[in-house]
Amino acid sequence: MNCDLIAPHYWWIEKLGMGGTLERRRRWFLPEIGQARRALVLGDGDGRFLRELLRHNPSVRADYVDLSRRMLELARLRAGRERVSYQQCDGLAAEFPRSNYDLVATHFFFDCLGPSELEVLIGRVAEAAKPGARWIVSEFCVATIPARLLVSALYLFFRVTTGLKTRKLADHRPILQSHGFRLVSSRHSRGAFVVSELWER
Ligand SMILES: C[S@@+](CC[C@H](N)C(=O)[O-])C[C@H]1O[C@@H](n2cnc3c(N)ncnc32)[C@H](O)[C@@H]1O
Repeated sequence: MNCDLIAPHYWWIEKLGMGGTLERRRRWFLPEIGQARRALVLGDGDGRFLRELLRHNPSVRADYVDLSRRMLELARLRAGRERVSYQQCDGLAAEFPRSNYDLVATHFFFDCLGPSELEVLIGRVAEAAKPGARWIVSEFCVATIPARLLVSALYLFFRVTTGLKTRKLADHRPILQSHGFRLVSSRHSRGAFVVSELWER
């Protein structure tokens, strides 16, 4: 997957297609994570969540990881350099320090990965998470026919524009559970197209 081409257009395409729905999901648990000090923000794209995280939490320091150079540049413009370390790399291969993070954030990133990739990623990140760490996830749901149609259309869009190979949403929940995380709270959007989840170890 290479998001360089769509990176500058990503926010307005999202706004046009989904209004404020995804942005509300990304921000939903910000009031709950004010205690976080070390955050890992994975596949954050153009940095809209990262900027809000830094605004809401003046003490947090974040590691941002994304595959796309253009996305990283945009994130750096939005969120600044002060409390963030930026890394352009594959999250599946990145070296994370052990037992380091008390917060992990993955918004609309799991959908880029197949089940075996998701297993690898969650396993590696779980090793980098401290006991008691929180993990916030925003993701699409495919519980209804309209939602399944929407997600199929989105996969087609990303296949054409970024070369995304993944064709189907994998279920991250059993994988997070198998690594000791439990779902503390979740909130669906109207129409149940997307969900924000707060997990804790
Ligand atoms: C669908 S976009 C979501 C971006 C952002 N999190 C959001 O909420 O809009 C997926 C992002 O994950 C990045 N990405 C995809 N595969 C990745 C990987 N293996 N490692 C790191 N980043 C990856 C892409 O470059 C892109 O920025």
